[in-house]
Amino acid sequence: MKAIILAGGSGTRLYPLTKAISKQLLPVYDKPMIYYPLSTVLLAGIREILLITNPEYVELYRNLLQDGSQIGVHIQYAVQEIPRGLPDAFIIGEKFINSDKCMLILGDNIFYGQGFSNLLKKAVKLEKGALIFGYYVKDPRAYGVVEFDSNMNVISIEEKPEKPKSNYAIPGIYFFDDKVVELTKTLRPSKRGELEITDLIKKYLELGELKVELFGRGFMWLDMGTFDGLLEASNFVETIQKRQGFYIGCIEEVAYRMGYIDKEQLYKLGYKMRNSEYGRYLMELAGES
Ligand code: DAU
Repeated sequence: MKAIILAGGSGTRLYPLTKAISKQLLPVYDKPMIYYPLSTVLLAGIREILLITNPEYVELYRNLLQDGSQIGVHIQYAVQEIPRGLPDAFIIGEKFINSDKCMLILGDNIFYGQGFSNLLKKAVKLEKGALIFGYYVKDPRAYGVVEFDSNMNVISIEEKPEKPKSNYAIPGIYFFDDKVVELTKTLRPSKRGELEITDLIKKYLELGELKVELFGRGFMWLDMGTFDGLLEASNFVETIQKRQGFYIGCIEEVAYRMGYIDKEQLYKLGYKMRNSEYGRYLMELAGES
C-alpha cells in the first residue's frame, strides 16, 4: 500500500496566518503540522509516500523532509495547481499509485490514542473496497458525516450537512483499494465546485464495499484547519508531552521504533538539532537502550 498526504488547499480559513505560508507548515506546539499526519503514515508501516501541495510551497516541503531517506522512507512530491478537492489527489497521484492500494491522509489532521498502531496495521491489510472511520463529535456539520444502523451497515454519507443524520464525523484518513483512481475519474464536481471525498466513498458504498470503523471516545482526533483546532492541537500535544515525556508526531522516533533507521542514525538526526529540546529528545532516545 502507498500513502498520499494532501497538503494543499487555499488555507483562507486561517488568513492572515496562511497568507504567506502553507497551512500544513504552521507550528503545532513544537513541530510543523505536517509531522503529525506523516508520523501516522510511518506508524502504518507505509514507506512509499507522495506529498501533494501548492506549486509555491513544494520547495519548502522538500527542504523540510527531503526525499525521506534520512528517516528510512521514500517521499515524492507533486503539485496541485488549484484546490479541486480531496479526490483530485488520486488523479494527480495516478502514476505514483500505479494500480496499488492507497491511504489518503489530510495534512491538517492529527490522530492520537491507545490502540491506534494496531488499528493502522489492520487497515493497511485491506484487500478490497474502502475503509473509513467514524468519530463522535458534538457538532458534525463541518465534516463528512456517516450514518449507520445497529449492525454498523452504512445508511448514508453526507458532506457538511446542515442537518446531520448522526454525530459521527468522518476523519481525514481513508484507505482505498486499487479501484480508487478509476472510481475517482467517474466523479463530478459538487455545487461548491470541488470533487468530494464523500462522493468517492459513496461509490464504494454503492458497490457494497465500504467498511467503517469507529474511534472510541478515548481517542483524540482534531482537524487543525481552524484557529480553534490549531490551538487545541498545540495545547493537547503540550499537555501529553510534558506529562509523559513521550512525543506526539515525532517522525524520527516513529522511524526508529518501526526499524526504518537505527540508533546511530537517530542520534545523528538529533545531534543536528541539539540546540532544541526536540533534538535532545532524539539523542536521549538513541541512548536509551
Ligand atoms: O478533516 C476531515 C474533513 O476533511 C472530512 O470530514 C470531510 O469529509 C472532508 O471533505 C474534509 O473537509 P474540510 O472542510 O476539512 O476540507 P478542506 O477543504 O479544509 O480540506 C482538507 C485538507 O486538504 C486541507 O488541509 C487542505 C487540503 N486540500 C483541500 C482541497 C479541497 C488540498 O490539498 N487540496 C484540495 O483541493
